[in-house]
Amino acid sequence: MSDEVRPASVKLTSDWMAVIRAREDAQPDAYLHDPCAAAFVTPASEAALDAIQAAGLPSPIVPIRGRLGDITLMESGLKQVVCLGAGTDARPYRLPVPPDLAYFELDLPGQLDGKSELLRAAGFEARCELRVVEADLRAGWTEALLAAGYSPAEPAHWIAEGLFYYLTPAEGTALLSAISELSAPGSWLTFDGPDTRFLTDPAKSGFHHQMRERGAPFVGSFTDPVRQLAGHGWSAQAVVHRELATCAWLPKPPARLLSPGLDLWLARAHRR
Ligand SMILES: C[S@@+](CC[C@H](N)C(=O)[O-])C[C@H]1O[C@@H](n2cnc3c(N)ncnc32)[C@H](O)[C@@H]1O
Repeated sequence: MSDEVRPASVKLTSDWMAVIRAREDAQPDAYLHDPCAAAFVTPASEAALDAIQAAGLPSPIVPIRGRLGDITLMESGLKQVVCLGAGTDARPYRLPVPPDLAYFELDLPGQLDGKSELLRAAGFEARCELRVVEADLRAGWTEALLAAGYSPAEPAHWIAEGLFYYLTPAEGTALLSAISELSAPGSWLTFDGPDTRFLTDPAKSGFHHQMRERGAPFVGSFTDPVRQLAGHGWSAQAVVHRELATCAWLPKPPARLLSPGLDLWLARAHRR
């Protein structure tokens, strides 16, 4: 079976994320509030999520990385945000962002078609300047971002949620290099991704087999994101999901999101 990540398949994973966020939003102790997520949910996406979650999709990471991104975006006060692999992310619609914020959404061609119309029909309007950029983040995307008005002279908050899973380590490193070249001092980067152990854990082999069958295998991994980011000129903090209960820089998640044995990284980095 192939380890190829097929664009049409990986695009569907974004629908699963919306289901996870909609369900989290409905929790009495919701760690992440995303009232927009329900607009994306269909019976088919719920059934697909239920099936892959039963096979081992590490869903608890989704609200946690979402909260990390929200906190960083709102506290940084930066005027540019670049959301890489944006999918069903709806921050421009759900957060109290300033109207002069430029929010760039990047994803594969066609993935973001109809998104703003769907959210508008559900009663949500973007609260800031929204610019959609169609690009494959494995190559040649920086020109498209610059053409859309991104200013490399100004600091930005880069968000890469649920993305590095689908980029090989070489593609992930190339993406980090490109981000770093476009990041002025004062920029922030928040992301998540698998530790190498998540890919090699025998207990996860059934899950990985299913993801390969679906054309969206986890192919990315990190071993030491803090060190890796330092090499690109960032000061980073990173924590693996299993250590979240004692992480000092994130609000403590409820116990139901602290499932043990999830070797997934959450990281935030500041550009020196
Ligand atoms: C798991 S979803 C995450 C979506 C969103 N960031 C979230 O957390 O809800 C992965 C997203 O990354 C996008 N993606 C995957 N590989 C990509 C690539 N090479 N270039 C651009 N986007 C990509 C997919 O189309 C999809 O929207």
